[in-house]
Amino acid sequence: MAQVVVNERLIDIRPPVLCQSLLSFLRDDLGLKGTKEGCASGDCGACTVVVADGAGEVHTLNSCITPVGAVAGSRVLTVEGAGTPEDLHPVQQALIEANGSQCGFCTPGFVMAMIGDGLKRQSVGLDSLHDREAAVAALSGNLCRCTGYRPIISAFCAIEGEPGCEWMLATSSDIADAEGPYTAPRDLAALRHRLAGQDPEDVLIAAGTTDAWLEVSQQYRDFPTIVDVTRVAELNRLDLSDGQVRIGAAVSHARLLEFFTAGPHASDAITDVVARFGSPQIRSRGTIGGNIANASPIADWPPLLLALDANLDIMSFDGAARRMALTSFYHGYRMTALAADELIVSIEFTIPDWRRLAAFKISKRREDDISTVMGAVYTQTNDDDVVTTARVAFGGVAATPVRLGVVEEALANVSIRALSDDAINEVADLAAAAVEPISDVRGSADYRRAMTGAIVRKCLYKIRDGESMDLWQESFDDE
Ligand SMILES: Cc1cc2nc3c(=O)[nH]c(=O)nc-3n(C[C@H](O)[C@H](O)[C@H](O)COP(=O)(O)OP(=O)(O)OC[C@H]3O[C@@H](n4cnc5c(N)ncnc54)[C@H](O)[C@@H]3O)c2cc1C
Ligand code: FES
Ligand code: FES
Repeated sequence: MAQVVVNERLIDIRPPVLCQSLLSFLRDDLGLKGTKEGCASGDCGACTVVVADGAGEVHTLNSCITPVGAVAGSRVLTVEGAGTPEDLHPVQQALIEANGSQCGFCTPGFVMAMIGDGLKRQSVGLDSLHDREAAVAALSGNLCRCTGYRPIISAFCAIEGEPGCEWMLATSSDIADAEGPYTAPRDLAALRHRLAGQDPEDVLIAAGTTDAWLEVSQQYRDFPTIVDVTRVAELNRLDLSDGQVRIGAAVSHARLLEFFTAGPHASDAITDVVARFGSPQIRSRGTIGGNIANASPIADWPPLLLALDANLDIMSFDGAARRMALTSFYHGYRMTALAADELIVSIEFTIPDWRRLAAFKISKRREDDISTVMGAVYTQTNDDDVVTTARVAFGGVAATPVRLGVVEEALANVSIRALSDDAINEVADLAAAAVEPISDVRGSADYRRAMTGAIVRKCLYKIRDGESMDLWQESFDDE
């Protein structure tokens, strides 16, 4: 029998329950109604809970788009475990004192996002003090519909001391793991063994389920058999060796954000985009493999990886391996070259000159929003600073993520340092003319075309000057 600890209580879980939503398990099976359902799509944060895995790694997640099996073997903290009316958690007290406790729908989610952030900081040895920027980042997955963010952020910034609920930080491997219809193999051999001979129609390959679980929460679909790939060791590797960057398909966006923030592989082009990928709750669960396989034309990793000329290592259910360039992966709207019985094991690309990669994401909201247009430019140069290879990749301008060959040709053999503003404008105009986007709720075709040009322009300024031209700031300065 699988197990989970919820609010310090060890609970046995019957195998079929593992394929159910964590939110309905908490509310309906355990009667913990403090965790709310707002949007049922990962967008509002009302269902936020804090989870610590067997190794004591802490994160927040949206329980509406998480299966119970994903937290088997873990500790879960809900708002009921945080404090009681007689003995409030310091976060709850701070919210009251700052007049930040508003409707009963969003407040539990805000409380959990704050406690989760505090516990996470404590688990990695950081203090719990927040400036405004850190508070906004930690709360970017939580919506307040009554415009009450100011007191909530003031409350967050006022909290001092330990975040409490220390039992969440204990490491233990004595909480039983998932089993039966929901399995989470620990290595590639076990994964192969679990998948061999399976009919792909009968099984969901689940990673962070930030896309896949919308079919459950929005369309009431059942997945009776789930194979969770997030605990497979080989799918969790993240390293640089032999001149290559290797990223396991199950590496989360949160880990990638940390990885590309510091060290010889620091890339602000990547971190600027990934820091705006969904919310802390989405980044803690969502994986790079799911982002690629999902084949959304507005996914954020594909343009970056196309600009880096990445390859995918793919494995079939029977263990046959093959390698494919990402450029050959997308065949049409939400269609990929993956056979029904194949999955992505890892992503690999040659270590680039990080200073020559630039990327920008344009979305309607700064936080917790999917791109309207997202573009990345990479220019490899020789010792004379002349472009030997240019790669320009975009999402949101076609049915699939695309490379803009005509723009790449225009940049070939150009001296980056000698690129004049006029020449940059010409390349930007070429990019805008090269795409044929559609109009939808996120933006009109004209807007997307204009933004394609603007992103190419900003990327080229960034690569040429080491900083981007701030278009907004310039227009301000002119007035
Ligand atoms: C609120 C919200 C905000 C979001 N914001 C963004 C955003 O800013 N940018 C963005 O790009 N996306 C965003 N997304 C979409 C989503 O979070 C990402 O696409 C995420 O990376 C999907 O990864 P996952 O691990 O959750 O995939 P899952 O949901 O587990 O899987 C998605 C699909 O890929 C398949 N799959 C998973 N792993 C593999 C594998 N290794 N091999 C083969 N198939 C696999 C699954 O079977 C499934 O069909 C957002 C989603 C939500 C709900
Ligand atoms: S209910 Fe809105 S994020 Fe889960
Ligand atoms: S706290 Fe719920 S709408 Fe503002």
